[in-house]
Amino acid sequence: MDERQTVGLGTMGIDDPPTIETAIDLGYRHLDTAQIYDNEAVVGQGIERSTLDRDELFVATKVWIDKLAPQNVEKSTAASLDRLGLEYADLLYVHRPRGDYDPAETLPAFDELRERGEIEHVGVSNFTVDQLETARDHLEAPIFANQVEYHPLYQPTDALADAQAHDSYLVAYSPLANGRAGDIPEVVEIAEKHDVTPQAVCLAWLTAKDNLIAIPKASSEAHLRANRDAADLTLDPEDHAAVDDIEREDEIFPE
Ligand SMILES: NC(=O)c1ccc[n+]([C@@H]2O[C@H](COP(=O)([O-])OP(=O)(O)OC[C@H]3O[C@@H](n4cnc5c(N)ncnc54)[C@H](OP(=O)(O)O)[C@@H]3O)[C@@H](O)[C@H]2O)c1
Repeated sequence: MDERQTVGLGTMGIDDPPTIETAIDLGYRHLDTAQIYDNEAVVGQGIERSTLDRDELFVATKVWIDKLAPQNVEKSTAASLDRLGLEYADLLYVHRPRGDYDPAETLPAFDELRERGEIEHVGVSNFTVDQLETARDHLEAPIFANQVEYHPLYQPTDALADAQAHDSYLVAYSPLANGRAGDIPEVVEIAEKHDVTPQAVCLAWLTAKDNLIAIPKASSEAHLRANRDAADLTLDPEDHAAVDDIEREDEIFPE
């Protein structure tokens, strides 16, 4: 992963390869998909259309909860790679610790894929700090990333502290509150002060945090550009404090 790139592309809902190609052309290098998004082939076709070398991209996918028994981890990952048109994924996540997830069975299967070179890194998603600790007991590989919902209205700071303590990543999903950034008064006020959009404020606030990578989803070129550039926006310390202090707990994707 390019440590300097703190904004990747969330692809849930993107169903056309040209959007992926445009994002790569605009400089996005981290592409986030999942078996359940039913668009791994779209992401693969977008990669195929771009002229970039494979090793310059960082491609992450996720194993859905009904494929977390060891033999299904292996089979479904092979199918994911086939759809993506790739020989390896840079990062493979356990999508949620539910369904067939059993740390003692599931995680050794992820280790094995890594040993075989089919994946570069192991990640988990929607894990609490307790679930991360249990996972560490069963994994040989370090946990590279925990992907969790993180935006002004839902801030799992304990998961971020865990990532910082282990020098791993917190990958923040729904960083624009799933399209609701413009409805958050504190964010709108900061946006007006700096003459930027609420979406830019969300991304600047998030990406200033150590060990955090945000993966906004965008479909238009204008949104792709805006989100790419938002990490360069510098907010004032009081702006960061004002967003940190928002205490609503509006989780968009609860268990
Ligand atoms: N691990 C998990 O369980 C999990 C769960 C949910 C999501 N995710 C990941 O996180 C990614 C992002 O989350 P999300 O899709 O829920 O929501 P999001 O990124 O918070 O918000 C996406 C919405 O914001 C709009 N938008 C994007 N850039 C904008 C801009 N600059 N100005 C105004 N509006 C803008 C998009 O519209 P347009 O599309 O029209 O540009 C879309 O409606 C997903 O794609 C997926 O990869 C993971």
